[in-house]
Amino acid sequence: METKNEMSVATESPTARLARFGTKNAQVGVIGLGYVGLPLALLYSQKGFRTTGFDTDPAKVEKLESGQTYIRHIPASNIAAEKKENRFRATTNFEDLRQMDAIIICVPTPLDDHREPDLSYIRDTAETIQERLQPGQLVVLESTTYPGTTEELVVPILERSGLRSPIRPYSTDGHEVRDTDLEAIDFLVAFSPEREDPGNRLFQTHQIPKVIGGVNGPSARAAKALYSQVFERTIVVSSSRAAEMTKLLENIYRCVNIALVNELKLLCLRMGIDIWEVIEAAKTKPFGFTPFYPGPGLGGHCIPIDPFYLTWKAHEYELPTRFIELAGEINSAMPDHVVSSVIEALNQRKQCLKDSPILILGVAYKKDIDDLRESPSLRIIKLLQAQGAKVDYHDPYFPQLHKMRHYDFQHMKSIEISADKLGQYAAVIVATDHSSYDYDFIVRHARLVIDTRNATRSVKEHRDKIVLC
Ligand SMILES: NC(=O)c1ccc[n+]([C@@H]2O[C@H](COP(=O)([O-])OP(=O)(O)OC[C@H]3O[C@@H](n4cnc5c(N)ncnc54)[C@H](O)[C@@H]3O)[C@@H](O)[C@H]2O)c1
Repeated sequence: METKNEMSVATESPTARLARFGTKNAQVGVIGLGYVGLPLALLYSQKGFRTTGFDTDPAKVEKLESGQTYIRHIPASNIAAEKKENRFRATTNFEDLRQMDAIIICVPTPLDDHREPDLSYIRDTAETIQERLQPGQLVVLESTTYPGTTEELVVPILERSGLRSPIRPYSTDGHEVRDTDLEAIDFLVAFSPEREDPGNRLFQTHQIPKVIGGVNGPSARAAKALYSQVFERTIVVSSSRAAEMTKLLENIYRCVNIALVNELKLLCLRMGIDIWEVIEAAKTKPFGFTPFYPGPGLGGHCIPIDPFYLTWKAHEYELPTRFIELAGEINSAMPDHVVSSVIEALNQRKQCLKDSPILILGVAYKKDIDDLRESPSLRIIKLLQAQGAKVDYHDPYFPQLHKMRHYDFQHMKSIEISADKLGQYAAVIVATDHSSYDYDFIVRHARLVIDTRNATRSVKEHRDKIVLC
């Protein structure tokens, strides 16, 4: 029996098929309801599309279906409002993919134990779609990955359905797509990188320009038609590979520049120069300089991981990506630098790290968010424990820690901060500069503060207790 989509597509002309993506009649499915997929699904829903979120995690789906949230910066009221309007629903039933006009993939792209791209989530998702693929459907990959993934991995899996989306060059001026011949094209495929920055209050998702690249002209055109309805600005590049590379360039640019300031920080420390003062002065230059800030190391799902997707792919072209490797080396040594600074500061006070109680403030990978993936704080805890320190932590967003891929801190619970408690630690390390911390209070009551973020810059008293590192 034909499904609803097969019937509607069969009676549509090719042009009408494409036009469907320029209307709110298109049904949108988002696969992977995490930090990226959930806000995206809600955005489509808020703009009037009937949107279905798909996830393999039944606990997440259950929460969303009862109007609750599991990501702090996405209010439950937003989810409940969309559910009330019957525009948004979440499900673990992937059979419903057949009913979707557009399917957007937002699944994880981590590194494996050998620090090589782990594409298993994308592969599994493409298989799941393939088994249910309908003619005329648009599939968009948003997960960050190396150039070529959409063409070389996603399209061949989807084509096992017997339907075709041939890879064909097309031209574009960034807005209009030429070469929109639908000849021999059964379904549409594009890549559009996600530029979500959790916790960034300056830009909402729809205000961040959306880059789009299709595997052929009709795919690029359909994706542009769909995204243009929810994003203020879209930019169409000439291939999915160019779109994939755009995202990597953005993240490698950050990774390399952070490594540069981290290296300069180490030099400035030896030279007795305050790197943060230098950055503040340098950023007064109205052109040619973008400020980046040193810290205890890289964190999050993107910057520590994405550059190595390109490094891996570059091997195929026998070209080493030396900037990426060097930046990775410098950034991943920063937690060791923090621990060395603690040892040195204790040493100057005739104390040693072994058996010393140490408090880490902040385990989230950056301020004011509830995400600890790849957080440098976790590495710092592990290094301190390896040296025999007795480590506690505090983080307003993590009352307790759970078992993670590389760490098992599930016995650890966030301590209560008080004047008495702060005074009990040999050193307090500011690893994440959450806005809710009262740094005057912390410095007043702590014996020694190792500040990795210059979070104590406005503290006036007891500066002799502060070590910037
Ligand atoms: N988090 C960010 O700030 C950010 C920013 C830009 C790009 N990205 C990229 O977006 C992608 C997703 O990242 P994220 O942070 O949202 O990840 P996440 O871990 O928060 O969410 C991924 C979701 O996918 C679900 N999932 C896993 N396998 C699945 C499958 N086979 N089918 C359906 N659902 C599945 C998980 O249960 C989870 O809910 C990654 O490629 C990441 O690099 C992330």
